[in-house]
Order: sequence, then structure tokens, then C-alpha cells
Amino acid sequence: VKTQLIMPAAGMGLRLGSSRPKALAELCGLPLIVRTLTRFREAGQLEDAIVPAPASQLPQFEKLLAKHFPGVSIQVLAGGSSRQESVRIGLEALGAQTEIVLIHDAARPFVPVDAIHASIQAAADHGAATVAVPAIDTILLGDTNAFLESTPDRARTWACQTPQTFQAAVIREAHTRARADGFKGTDDASLVRRLGKPVKLVMGVRLNFKLTTPEDLAYARMLIQEGLA
Ligand code: C5P
Repeated sequence: VKTQLIMPAAGMGLRLGSSRPKALAELCGLPLIVRTLTRFREAGQLEDAIVPAPASQLPQFEKLLAKHFPGVSIQVLAGGSSRQESVRIGLEALGAQTEIVLIHDAARPFVPVDAIHASIQAAADHGAATVAVPAIDTILLGDTNAFLESTPDRARTWACQTPQTFQAAVIREAHTRARADGFKGTDDASLVRRLGKPVKLVMGVRLNFKLTTPEDLAYARMLIQEGLA
């Protein structure tokens, strides 16, 4: 089965408080995106990867990826103004033979290789899958005035992660429909689910968190230094 990775990396890292794009943030001697892509190389899923990056930084990304992954074909292209837009642009660059599409945030460098494989299998079996972890905190659904509306049963709440993995036709249709309807989501599995199609939840680990704030970056460095990630 021909698989292809899309790694949205076009975020500017404003919440990280950095002057450079988040994907280029330095993490114990290696740029964040290099660490994340290395997990996909270990999983045998790096060849023909598509990387939507900030439009102003394409040469920097191309140079960096050529240096760390020589001989691997990785396509860097200009991302969009939202993650959803960046993924949509990435989908347009997919090869015609691609059957399964992996979508993984550049900002999640500690994704386990077995979660990558499990998500591919689940997408092949069910059409769509997302890695997720059972919620540790009780999740509250608030109303627009910040009053509690309801408390979903914690045994059924999960925190969303990536990879989110799809049969190519399924994710193409989901993005086409979301765009036509003006629907904006924060992840890709939600775009599939809103069409009524099943999305399998694949068990992840808390270590596969998304680096967002300066505290996250400090925690990630500590995990690497301590040999925990
Ligand atoms: O902003 P957030 O942390 O949710 O971004 C998740 C991923 O989406 C990051 O890897 C980021 O680089 C990417 N992204 C993107 N295009 C945007 C915004 C975010 O590819 N316009």
C-alpha cells in the first residue's frame, strides 16, 4: 500500500514566543521538525513526505531537510493561514498512487513508531483514524459566557493527537466539503466525522504532546536530557 506523509509546519510559533517558525526551534542540538521527521524515517514513512512551511522560509526548510535527510525526496511547499489550509494545500500535492495519507504535526516530536504503524492499519481497516489518549483531567463543556454546560463522562473523553491517518479519497472529500461549507476545524479527523463517517481512535501516549509554549519546550529538553524521550 502506497502511503504518504503530510507534516504541517507552517505555524509561526507565536505562543512559543520565538522569532523563528516553531518547527525550526532548537531542541537539544536538532531542529524540532528534524526530530519529528526522524520518527517517520524510523517507521519507514519518510519518502515523498510533503511539508507545508511558512512561505517566507521555504529555502531554509529545503536546506535543512536536504542536510539531515540526504537522498530522501521531501517536498516543501508554502502552507496557508491556518493549519486546515496548510493540510488542504498539502493534499493537492499528493501522488496519484497514494492510498493512505498520514497527517502529523511537526510540533509532536515524540510520537512512538508503533502508534504510526497502528494508525496506518486502522485507516486501512476503517477509512479514518486518529491517535488520541484517554483524558487525564475531567473535561468541561462550557457555554459562551463561561458557565458549565455539561460534564462529559470522563471514561469516554480523549485528548486528540496526531498522526491522523486516512484513505486518500476519504480525507480529500472531507477537506473539499469543509471548504465548500466554510467549516473550520482544529484537526482533520473532525472533518471526516462531520460527514458521518467512522473515525477509529488509536491509543497514543501522553509523551506525544504538542509543543506549544516555552514551558513545553523546556519540558521536552528535559525529557531528552534525562533519556526519557
Ligand atoms: O498552532 P498549532 O500548534 O495547533 O499547530 C499545529 C501544527 O500545525 C504545527 O506543526 C504548525 O506548524 C502547523 N500549522 C500550519 N499552518 C498554519 C498553522 C499551523 O501548518 N497556518
